[in-house]
Amino acid sequence: MKFRRASPGPILDDLRAILGDRLSTSTADREARARDASHHHPEPPDAVAFPTSTDEVARLLAVCHAHRFPVIPHGAGTAVEGGIVAVHGGLCLDLRRMDRILEVNAADMDARVEAGVRRKQLNRHLEETGTGLHFPVDPGADATLGGMAATRASGTEAVGYGTMRENVLGLTAVLADGRVVRTGTRARKSSAGYDLTRLFVGSEGTLAVITEVGLRLAPVPPATAAAVCPFPTVAGAVDCALELLPGPAPARCELLDEVQMEATRRYAGLDHDPRPTLFLEFHGTAERVEEAARAADGIASRFGGGPFRWATEPAERDRLWQARHDGYYASLALRPGSVGYVTDVCVPVSSLAECIDRTRREIDACGLTAPLYGHVGDGNFHVVVLIDPDDPGELAVARRLGERIVDHALDLGGTCSGEHGIGLGKVDALERECGGAVEVMAAVKTALDPAGILNPGKVLRPRGDCAIVGRPEPPTNPIQATNP
Ligand code: LAC
Ligand code: ZN
Repeated sequence: MKFRRASPGPILDDLRAILGDRLSTSTADREARARDASHHHPEPPDAVAFPTSTDEVARLLAVCHAHRFPVIPHGAGTAVEGGIVAVHGGLCLDLRRMDRILEVNAADMDARVEAGVRRKQLNRHLEETGTGLHFPVDPGADATLGGMAATRASGTEAVGYGTMRENVLGLTAVLADGRVVRTGTRARKSSAGYDLTRLFVGSEGTLAVITEVGLRLAPVPPATAAAVCPFPTVAGAVDCALELLPGPAPARCELLDEVQMEATRRYAGLDHDPRPTLFLEFHGTAERVEEAARAADGIASRFGGGPFRWATEPAERDRLWQARHDGYYASLALRPGSVGYVTDVCVPVSSLAECIDRTRREIDACGLTAPLYGHVGDGNFHVVVLIDPDDPGELAVARRLGERIVDHALDLGGTCSGEHGIGLGKVDALERECGGAVEVMAAVKTALDPAGILNPGKVLRPRGDCAIVGRPEPPTNPIQATNP
């Protein structure tokens, strides 16, 4: 990729003509969008746009395309692979003012929302309007649904309800040159042509800007029971999780290893033992939940697990899941002043115990504190390596550890990213995973974004002879100075 150094001034004039004072070049607005929740070094965009409609996004993109000016779509900023860092400058499209819930079709259990609607906002709306429905993909953070679609997010309920891949019915997307396309329909299935919805879901703003999302909804279960169950070993907890999947079929099945459990105990004020622990939740009729709970108890005791602590009251359940959702921040607090280098791999569930075992040995050998936790019902786990931001040696060790964990996952038939995406952090790993298929991805990218303006530097290594007006060099020090 070539870079043409040019003042963004004339481009910003054209963009301002569309948005007026909803185009900001203030330092505060730019700095606030320079980073996500990860260790990646912040880089501010040249300007921040606050569009309120698909039409405005289309007009902004037409201008950026004509000027070869990078565009970085931005949701809640809660992701952890550096996907929104403006490494080459450009225009940040902050989509959070596009926050209208456009339609809810209760009979068909679907909804259509603008990209900036947050998942909690949608769930509050579904509850307040008495639909008896909810949107079940729950990454923990109160992310925007456009951002979740763009990163193919999942989280704690994927084992019960699937990820954004299964729960997006269709999209409105703006292409690099400003053309607007609508993908998918409200039909539950379709064999109509190439599946552009799934092409754009997970494309991290590199193929198109998602402005509306059609979603599947699910009935609110009549009964819900959450439980926490400690185990003598991680292997015992993982083996138990595997047996729970086909029988009691948890809607959530999370593992915290002993280091993460200690972090979570301290951070959330829980009085649970600092042992490897499963966080579980069962959904269904009262009878089914009761039966599942009994069966889970029996299975866990065969792996040395127990005693179960059940939470059936909503407040108690919320407290438990908030503690789990805060896992990343809890881990950072184990080493005050550290930043977290977050890894994310996913393997076939039957290889999970082996992958975690190999990972734990790598962690022990590297000498850094690194709690492990994750969505074990999906075969997906994270390691948060706590590094000193002033010590480049520690970053190098964490990087090496991350690479080795990815290699183990690939060796076991898994993927380099279960749910955090590729962003800046996994570009090499994607190449190792996909081999020649990366060239197919690059051909798709070139077909849809020939000028290379859409979120440059993310997912794929920049290539070709596209020439953007932007900063040429990514930063040399990739550690941010403080915790997010
Ligand atoms: C979690 C995020 C880090 O599972 O994916 O908490
Ligand atoms: Zn996760």
